[in-house]
Amino acid sequence: MDFLSITGGEKLQGSVSVSGAKNAALPLISATLLAKNEACLKNLPDVVDIKTLLSLLEMLGAKVQRIDPHTVKVNSSEILSTKATYDIVRKMRASILVLGPLLSRFGKCEVSLPGGCAIGARPVDLHLKAMEKMGAIVEIKGGYIVANAPKGLKGATIAFDKITVTGTENVVMAAALAKGVTKILNAAQEPEVVQLCEVLQAAGVEIKGIGSNELEIVGQEGEALEFKEIEVIPDRIEAGTYLCTGAMTNSSIRLERVIPEHLSAVTQKLEEIGFGMEYGENHLTLLPASKRRAFEIITTEYPGFPTDMQAQFMALATQCEGASIIEERLFENRFMHVSELQRLGAGIHLRGNTATVNGGTKLLCADVMATDLRASSALVLAALAAEGTTNIHRIYHLDRGYERLEEKLRALGAVIERGRE
Ligand code: UD1
Repeated sequence: MDFLSITGGEKLQGSVSVSGAKNAALPLISATLLAKNEACLKNLPDVVDIKTLLSLLEMLGAKVQRIDPHTVKVNSSEILSTKATYDIVRKMRASILVLGPLLSRFGKCEVSLPGGCAIGARPVDLHLKAMEKMGAIVEIKGGYIVANAPKGLKGATIAFDKITVTGTENVVMAAALAKGVTKILNAAQEPEVVQLCEVLQAAGVEIKGIGSNELEIVGQEGEALEFKEIEVIPDRIEAGTYLCTGAMTNSSIRLERVIPEHLSAVTQKLEEIGFGMEYGENHLTLLPASKRRAFEIITTEYPGFPTDMQAQFMALATQCEGASIIEERLFENRFMHVSELQRLGAGIHLRGNTATVNGGTKLLCADVMATDLRASSALVLAALAAEGTTNIHRIYHLDRGYERLEEKLRALGAVIERGRE
């Protein structure tokens, strides 16, 4: 297993080119199961989760042609199997994204039921209820979701009890080939959902309300779609994480290839803390703060503050003056990084879903363990500010979602090495 050694305390400087968004690419790759032509996806991030999903599609019978590390062509015209096996789903929960497209195109599928994960129980009940509402018969057998819709899916009104990102994406994809109109109420509005809708719209599916919490999708009655070339949007969470590397070390960092609007909740918070921010059309620069003030965060759905940036801001809170308060509203157990940050000397008190971080602490190097993707990036951030050399173990979590992390950090002046144990 690989680990990272980071020697902290260096000022960083320079620019980072932001990769394509993993969470946009995953539904887009899944959506190619709805295509009758070969779909070309560009600006894919070169990360493990994308490779995992592409290998799932290959197992289903899709032809995947890797043009370069960021471009693939997927041809799903001859799908042989509609079963997403446990082996793949246990590696990546987002494999659930093949449920909607497989069911609407082929009228049946089996998808291993994703279990809980490090950040909480993460049920998929809302995905399943929605598929049932659209006419599918859904059963759980031997750890698998077994879904059948022999006469095809039909349009329905889906009112989500909770806002769910992949749930909304699954319904949008299912609705694209269903018979009749599907309305989604309380839909997720994340930029990744917006891009999926836009791609399907470009493929001929009529979708109203894109970017709002009410979507209306006119189904194509089983007629497969003709996809245009897709350019994946920049990764707002990777971008936010690099802004935090600058914030953590109070350095100036410029991001290239971003959509600043997608980062509003994060950049506003950084300004509130005391950092300067220069906005361009597709670039963004963080400027050092004369004083870093404590802050409050409540994680919510987009356009609110993203849960995927909570851990990174907790690391940042250790460097701010005063007590910061961080409330996690989306995932009940998304505080696994707390005990690891404490090993580095962070003063964090946890009560229910709220963490109080007493800032201004000096962090000291230690051995720490990565527990999930974003928790791992919080440890990298803390290590950048800690005195001495911190070893971060189990970094396969980071490789799932951050492309060329060491290379990008080294280019900013970080002292970072990858080792094997
Ligand atoms: C997606 C993102 C993830 C992000 C999360 C919240 C991808 C691949 N992953 O995950 O990085 O942290 O959105 O922004 O895009 N819920 C249910 N039942 C369901 C579905 C969800 O109770 O059927 C709950 C979840 O447990 C959670 C909340 O709804 O408390 C939101 O989860 P959801 O938006 O579905 O997260 P994901 O789509 O899995």
